[in-house]
Amino acid sequence: MHITVKKGNLLDTKTQAIILAFYEDEKTFSKLVSSADQKTGGLLGDIIKSGDFKAKPSQVSVIYTRGLLLANRIALVGLGRKSELNLEKIRNAFAKVMQHLRDLNIKDAATSFDWNPMPDQKEKVIAAVAEGAILGLYQYTPYKTVGRDEIHEMRLLEIVADTKDYSVLQDEIKKTKIITDAVYFARNLISAPANEMTPSIMATHAEKIAKRKNVSCRLLDKGKLKALGMNALLGVASGSNQPPKFIILEYTGGQRGVAPIALVGKGLTFDSGGISIKPAEKMDEMKTDMSGGAAVMAVIMAAADLKLPINIVGLVPATENMSGGSALKPGDILKSYSGKTIEVLNTDAEGRLILADALSYASKYKPAAIIDIATLTGACIVALGEDVIGMLGTDEQMKKEINQAAQITGELVWELPLWESYSELIKSDIADYKNSSGRSGGAITAAAFLSKFVGNYPWVHLDIAGPAWAKKDKTYIPKGASGVTVRLLVEYLQQRIKE
Ligand code: BES
Ligand code: MN
Ligand code: ZN
Repeated sequence: MHITVKKGNLLDTKTQAIILAFYEDEKTFSKLVSSADQKTGGLLGDIIKSGDFKAKPSQVSVIYTRGLLLANRIALVGLGRKSELNLEKIRNAFAKVMQHLRDLNIKDAATSFDWNPMPDQKEKVIAAVAEGAILGLYQYTPYKTVGRDEIHEMRLLEIVADTKDYSVLQDEIKKTKIITDAVYFARNLISAPANEMTPSIMATHAEKIAKRKNVSCRLLDKGKLKALGMNALLGVASGSNQPPKFIILEYTGGQRGVAPIALVGKGLTFDSGGISIKPAEKMDEMKTDMSGGAAVMAVIMAAADLKLPINIVGLVPATENMSGGSALKPGDILKSYSGKTIEVLNTDAEGRLILADALSYASKYKPAAIIDIATLTGACIVALGEDVIGMLGTDEQMKKEINQAAQITGELVWELPLWESYSELIKSDIADYKNSSGRSGGAITAAAFLSKFVGNYPWVHLDIAGPAWAKKDKTYIPKGASGVTVRLLVEYLQQRIKE
């Protein structure tokens, strides 16, 4: 869907629907709404007086203007109580109203910002409207061939603004479009079935990203990985017929020689569990086990399109985790890229194996910070629920800044402790570490394991096992791949640049 910004008056816009926003606790109409009410002979006053539309958060009603306005319809959307308005409520409301209009097979709509109670935060409010609208309209349909005519798509949202707001709006919409495009990119990669999103196919997507200015892509294939000694990654890949790829994306928007931020993303294009095989039920969901890798690729894409003045290196170890005659076996010992040895007690704890090699490899860049993003543990879902990102790490400042970014993007982040004592639990009897220590504290012991491969760099680990995939519609995150952490990390990088 396109979003455009236009100077003028919303009520003079020729469109299928104009969208007006209302507060639950505000009884007097704004200038714009009064004028719409007058022109339509009191239609707006009527629906509000009737009690049918109360302006509860994300409530939507549509009324018909019978030729009294250029637009055939007015969509009313509720923002709840004015004093309780926040960015998340704005995203939700605009996702809901756009979904409602889309389902009516409406193709274009227009709206404005006369309701904005936070004039000092104009940019953020504008971005929230666009994010809600665009992200909420996401649909993954490439494999639907039957009944395609029932798939509705919005084409255009026009934002009609005063002359004085025009350039701020234009600029903000442009930036938001870049970020939501990146979220769509991640969602598309994650939604794709594993037979059509293999490590090699992920790698071709990375090469496409590298067509941008200041972005380059290198792929380490099996031979190179062997030569480097990335045996933890190779161990996980050994059961699969799909060759692994270690994807390296470098973005150099910053000054030459300035230490980059390293983003490391788990790229398990399918996790069957390997010999420690997963139950059949819901195993299909394990096509999403590359969500961290997709997020890393999307963030690099957005950073390049936003021309952020920063250096970033994205590392995505990509492989399948399968069982078979050459697969990793419980009890096998692997010598990782770092030289440390790992006893594989459970082949389903494969994410930490491939990340171990990737995190050690990140040291080559002497990064200013390392952030890894991974659908790492079911235990994180047990601890925090489906919607929450588990955050662990060694750097207090980074964790604080990631929390601040999350306040803005609406992604839910909660910190788990990473005390020394957890390291006891991952010691192996015969190797340096074991990759599984049972159920208790599973999200934390996984992070403790990763910490052994990070080296002496500020590091944060984000476990997205829960929120990577929405089990049901969540307003602007329709059921399915969420693209979680793409907006969070772009926001974090932007804040870091400002400092
Ligand atoms: N990819 C899974 C974690 C996961 C589970 C992600 C559910 C999304 C939804 C990971 O590779 C895994 O299997 N972890 C095991 C670790 C255990 C064997 C120590 C787990 O969480 O059960
Ligand atoms: Mn697994
Ligand atoms: Zn996994």
